[in-house]
Amino acid sequence: MQTNAHTGTRIDEVAAGIYRINTPLNIPGIPGGFNLSQYLVVDEQPLVFHTGWRRWFPFVSEAIATVIPLDRIRHVGYSHFEGDESGAMNDFLAVAPEAVPFASQVSVMTSLNDYADRPGRGLADGEEFSTGKKQWQWLYTPHVPHGWDCGILFDKTTGTLLCGDLFTQAGAETPAVTEAEILTASEAMRKPMDYYAHSRNTRAILERLAELKPKTLACQHGSAYRGDGAALLRELAAILEKENQAG
Ligand SMILES: [Fe+2]
Ligand SMILES: [Fe+2]
Repeated sequence: MQTNAHTGTRIDEVAAGIYRINTPLNIPGIPGGFNLSQYLVVDEQPLVFHTGWRRWFPFVSEAIATVIPLDRIRHVGYSHFEGDESGAMNDFLAVAPEAVPFASQVSVMTSLNDYADRPGRGLADGEEFSTGKKQWQWLYTPHVPHGWDCGILFDKTTGTLLCGDLFTQAGAETPAVTEAEILTASEAMRKPMDYYAHSRNTRAILERLAELKPKTLACQHGSAYRGDGAALLRELAAILEKENQAG
């Protein structure tokens, strides 16, 4: 459902209780444009993953407010500290007085506790928590795809991996959910932009994510993918390993 005609922002449910807020972005340098998503989880304790840029807060929050009142939000977190992931953190904390900011322990130590207006909750690798009906697991994924502080969230209830910048797909207009593979599109973005860290542990980290057998990959850029998430993660890991070996 489109919520802002001027920016083209829309909100769509991509898995039970998980809403993708998406805004197209037309910038020089990426032919066909780009896009940013944030995810709203509607549960007893609503959660927002990725805040979007600070200057985008008016239309990102406008989209969320069509589903729940903003002051109901209890958790606001992000994968890694970067403008599109965490820029509007303080705007969320201002409108949701009971919301607690969260990120990896490393991110809380290096950035969040300095940047955010309230103390952050640092999640340990493998840590689980509940938002009511949904059970979450935090996976620390340093440098995958980038950022020492990087981590991602897995909803054990629906099998949805909020996978941040993994499988980033360009394009201003991307369907909310697709069942067509997204690896070709995300490889077309990764190779020329080279936004992955050249980490030694990438294969092991991606294998660990594959073992979760995600049914939905909720990407921050591009469509959410519904299908065999493990197969796609393993395919990506194999491509990266080959590249590494080629040096
Ligand atoms: Fe990023
Ligand atoms: Fe991103």
